Amino acid sequence: MAILNLGTALVLGGTSGLGLELALQCRDSCYGRVIVAGRHDPRREGNQDRNWNSVEFKHCDLTSWDLAIKLTGELQEVGVFPSMFIWAAAQHWMGHFSDMKMRQMKELAVTNMVNALPIVQWAWDRMRDLRSQRTRFVIISSTSATKPRNQEAIYAGTKAFQLQLARCLAKEHPYTKRTVTVALPGGMKTQLYREGMNPHYKEFMDPGKVARFIMERVMRQRCALNVLKIPRQKELM
Ligand SMILES: NC(=O)c1ccc[n+]([C@@H]2O[C@H](COP(=O)([O-])OP(=O)(O)OC[C@H]3O[C@@H](n4cnc5c(N)ncnc54)[C@H](OP(=O)(O)O)[C@@H]3O)[C@@H](O)[C@H]2O)c1
Repeated sequence: MAILNLGTALVLGGTSGLGLELALQCRDSCYGRVIVAGRHDPRREGNQDRNWNSVEFKHCDLTSWDLAIKLTGELQEVGVFPSMFIWAAAQHWMGHFSDMKMRQMKELAVTNMVNALPIVQWAWDRMRDLRSQRTRFVIISSTSATKPRNQEAIYAGTKAFQLQLARCLAKEHPYTKRTVTVALPGGMKTQLYREGMNPHYKEFMDPGKVARFIMERVMRQRCALNVLKIPRQKELM
């Protein structure tokens, strides 16, 4: 009996939190090769209990435009064609806009938005070349993309950018086999929000459960665009 192999999944920001859970879900959903990109190799850092079969790590630091472009070159060179691409990388900063140092503003904006774009575009174009296959393009935004949040102005702005980018991309190629999903999760217990940063932290969701929720919908999706709202809910805690 032939074993189903859906190809390669590339997860930008697949080294921790929701991205890591999504990467492992991809492997369990028959993606034969899963590449997680980020600054830290998750296989080395206290995650020995996880199953790393078929998971590869690629170093990528989104604070640098040049390093982002370098990653696309490396992936191209070894012939990667992602049939699943997930953009989960992001940083967070909480506080009043006026208190943000210029360096912090720049780092947040380039990491969450600008410097990811060469990789996002590369993955989008490589998927176009796989036109006979079903391909899945997934962007992890946030509920803060549509709901203004106090003391998260730049972060929420970058999340709104991702939402609109996803909507526009889906319009560019509405009839191909490539689907676009933009997920808008509420609070999750990850490194992004440490306990104490948010009064509702105890009711934040489990990233593993949220990943499963997202993957089930992504794998079933047939329409060009799905805006997947995932507000905090008991079943996903
Ligand atoms: N946690 C929440 O409450 C929440 C709510 C709504 C939406 N989200 C969204 O969910 C996504 C995943 O976040 P998370 O909550 O899972 O947080 P997380 O555990 O901190 O994961 C963030 C990911 O982004 C990567 N990353 C951060 N800075 C990077 C950089 N300079 N270069 C390359 N990679 C970088 C990290 O990799 P390295 O550390 O290896 O660099 C990590 O893989 C984000 O898009 C976030 O906006 C989170």
